[in-house]
Amino acid sequence: MTLVVAGDGAQALAKALCEAGRHPLGHVEFKTFPDGEEYVRILEPVKDEDVVVVQSTFPASRVMKLLLLLNAAKENGARSVRAVVPYLAYARQDRIFQPGESLSVKLIAQIIGLHASECFTVDLHKDESCQLFKIPVHNLSAEEPIAAELKRLRVDSVLAPDSGALPRVQAIARRIGVAHDHLEKTRVSSEVVQMKPKQLDVKGQRVAVVDDIISTGGTIATAVEELLKQGASSVFAVAVHGLFLGAALEKLKRAGVAEILSTDTVPSPYSRISVASVIARAMAERLTASSMR
Ligand code: R5P
Repeated sequence: MTLVVAGDGAQALAKALCEAGRHPLGHVEFKTFPDGEEYVRILEPVKDEDVVVVQSTFPASRVMKLLLLLNAAKENGARSVRAVVPYLAYARQDRIFQPGESLSVKLIAQIIGLHASECFTVDLHKDESCQLFKIPVHNLSAEEPIAAELKRLRVDSVLAPDSGALPRVQAIARRIGVAHDHLEKTRVSSEVVQMKPKQLDVKGQRVAVVDDIISTGGTIATAVEELLKQGASSVFAVAVHGLFLGAALEKLKRAGVAEILSTDTVPSPYSRISVASVIARAMAERLTASSMR
């Protein structure tokens, strides 16, 4: 039997995964001690079971509960332990930018690998970070459910806020058969920097700007503002992982965004796009493969 246990950062997603794969959802007791230490207890017996721990790690303090759940499954005799971490914290520090820094994504990869035999995540900040895991890691893409939602919203084009986000945008645009482009910064004068689509004319178009993360909202709010200046009729702000820190939502609204959308890798009132089917499919493939071994 495959038992799914959910951390506090992914309850709805874990439930959806259970429904899709017809797995039972385990019950977990959580406590925080007065000194701030976390406590978890999986209430179902896990001995000789295949356990899948689902926990999103935003805010980053949720990493500890992920590790405790993986550890609880392993220490109580689970036959296999897998980690589903839809949003992996610490992934943006993926190299030593300045001497003396830590390589946080490698550390997280190593710690998860101490307890789990396999890890599923969604739109890791850089795909290359997968190489830092010593266990198989499946960096799944949210492009399919995002494309379906953008099709429903009848967008005419999909834009990346910068060239780094272009491959995702290209894949989404291809799925729905619309144009794509990325925004490019050009210096108009010593004081003025203009940001506009490299080639595409967005005049009168319904445009979606898609990025992996909306954190403080600065990047995508600037993109929204510029696209409206270029004549777009409406601009949708879309992220795989919507963190919406500080004044992010106000910034986006002030910029004139038509709608804010994100996936459920990080639950929020804006996570209307679900990655459950994508994760469920990948999990089913791997569970079937390992049961045949
Ligand atoms: C950057 O590398 C990421 O892809 C996002 O563009 C960035 O994290 C967005 O941050 P913010 O919302 O704070 O502008």
